[in-house]
Amino acid sequence: MRKPAVSSWTEHPKIVHPSRRPHVRDLQTSLYPNVEDLTPAMVLIKLVFVEVLRMTSQELQQCGGATALLMSSVSIREAVIQDAEELARVHILAWQETYRGIAPQSVLDSLDVNARIDSWKTWLNQEDHKAFVAVVDGNICGFIRGGPVKQPVRDPSFDAELYAINIIGDAKGKGTGRELVHHLVETLRPMGLSKMVVWVLAENPSRRFYERLGAQDLGQQKIQHVGGVELTEVAYGWQDIESL
Ligand SMILES: CC(C)(COP(=O)(O)OP(=O)(O)OC[C@H]1O[C@@H](n2cnc3c(N)ncnc32)[C@H](O)[C@@H]1OP(=O)(O)O)[C@@H](O)C(=O)NCCC(=O)NCCS
Repeated sequence: MRKPAVSSWTEHPKIVHPSRRPHVRDLQTSLYPNVEDLTPAMVLIKLVFVEVLRMTSQELQQCGGATALLMSSVSIREAVIQDAEELARVHILAWQETYRGIAPQSVLDSLDVNARIDSWKTWLNQEDHKAFVAVVDGNICGFIRGGPVKQPVRDPSFDAELYAINIIGDAKGKGTGRELVHHLVETLRPMGLSKMVVWVLAENPSRRFYERLGAQDLGQQKIQHVGGVELTEVAYGWQDIESL
């Protein structure tokens, strides 16, 4: 059973402490000043709506289906070989969004979808290569890949690696990245892996995501040459993926 992602109110600013949540009566008054104009059925429907608004996301999760009332539902599942083509397209789109202004535009414009499909087929056929997709409205909006360490850091005890995580467009910033990481580590743990590394471009603001998830800057750098431009990658590490 996975541990809860957050353990206290202070650690998760998006969840409002009950004492700071408005009372249902305040919301009723501010949203529907002329309650007497409403039919009893309308009052009931609006009361239910206001109560759902008042609930924390934790309470909504406990209500199961109620979550769908407020959030577009993102589901996460293991990637399968049939996903290769869609994953290749999402992968290219994600790179074009993320590395615009960082990597040379000519390189981003010439990313080849067929080469990417081949790469995904290869990865998805490797038993120790684990991949999950995030799906919204039947479309893949993100993915994560990981497995045994491929680009090691100086400390040889780091045995696992998050190879890549990418979410496109509006699907970012809604907790999907954190969920994808949870799914990956739950698969890596039974493989006997416990310490995970990830390499990220130094200029990529998403490195803060790894920090938010408790990764430490391992103080190691690697230089990549992309389209004649020198890009620096930095390594982050989780000492124990149990914490994720
Ligand atoms: C990085 C990425 C995977 C994060 O996924 P996400 O769904 O947007 O992130 P989440 O909503 O799960 O965020 C989890 C936490 O990280 C924080 N976070 C996410 N991205 C952040 C950023 N760029 N800067 C600062 N904090 C960030 C969130 O605020 C959140 O914190 P909270 O728990 O306190 O609310 C996603 O934004 C992405 O795909 N970015 C572009 C591709 C990329 O750079 N990938 C990494 C290449 S190595």
